[in-house]
Amino acid sequence: MAILIKNEQQIDLMREAGRIVAETHLLLEQEIKVGVSTFELNRIAEKFIRSQDAVPSFLGYNGYPASICASINEEVVHGIPSKSRMIKDGDVVSVDIGAYKNGYHGDAARTHGVGAISEEAKRLIQVTEESFYEGIAMIKPGNHLHQISQAIQQYVEANGFSVVRDLVGHGIGTQMHEEPQIPNFKTIGRGPRLEKGMVLAIEPMVNFGRYEVRILADDWTVVTLDHSLSSHYENTVLVTANGYELLTIKK
Ligand code: MF3
Ligand code: CO
Repeated sequence: MAILIKNEQQIDLMREAGRIVAETHLLLEQEIKVGVSTFELNRIAEKFIRSQDAVPSFLGYNGYPASICASINEEVVHGIPSKSRMIKDGDVVSVDIGAYKNGYHGDAARTHGVGAISEEAKRLIQVTEESFYEGIAMIKPGNHLHQISQAIQQYVEANGFSVVRDLVGHGIGTQMHEEPQIPNFKTIGRGPRLEKGMVLAIEPMVNFGRYEVRILADDWTVVTLDHSLSSHYENTVLVTANGYELLTIKK
């Protein structure tokens, strides 16, 4: 399967899916507090997504049992919301949300520090978000995909952190995961040329310590092997004639 180019009509549908994801993040941001369970965050997100005539992209995907992912501290991604997992002061909480409407998906992740977080945690969250912007600064038709990957890795490593190797970003459209894969680190070759109408979910996952990860016994939760903190930032990004448009940030 090749990288699918979206036309104006399809892009409009993706803007709508993206808007819902963006608004769900803004809603959850208000709810992430000490004592709230990740199950409750999941419930609020799912209710809002459905109120927008959309469905949560993640629910049932490869058997995933919830509507959002909530990954705390050394959890990198794919943390399963749970009634017994309460947010604590000082937690680093990554929330990943997908919404599907009118045949198209939107996908975005944010990481929030709760209460009195350490300076290290603050810097990790900030560098992760900044690395996303370093990456997308390379986006314009004619540039190569791996310029995004390299820019992310360089920025992260210059700040003393590491990028996860076992998970990558992805194209997105009628399927949550489409071609191309988008590594956040250097791989062989330059990757495909970017073209107007490509839609990419770019998602640096950054560890405070080493880049290695493993999967917990629940078969989903990805954690850092060295137990160091991890952060995640993602948006669904459209390649435009001279740059990009962020589909999962509220305009
Ligand atoms: N943003 C994640 C991704 O792009 C969300 C997938 S979680 C899953 O892969 F549960 F749906 F798998
Ligand atoms: Co994604």
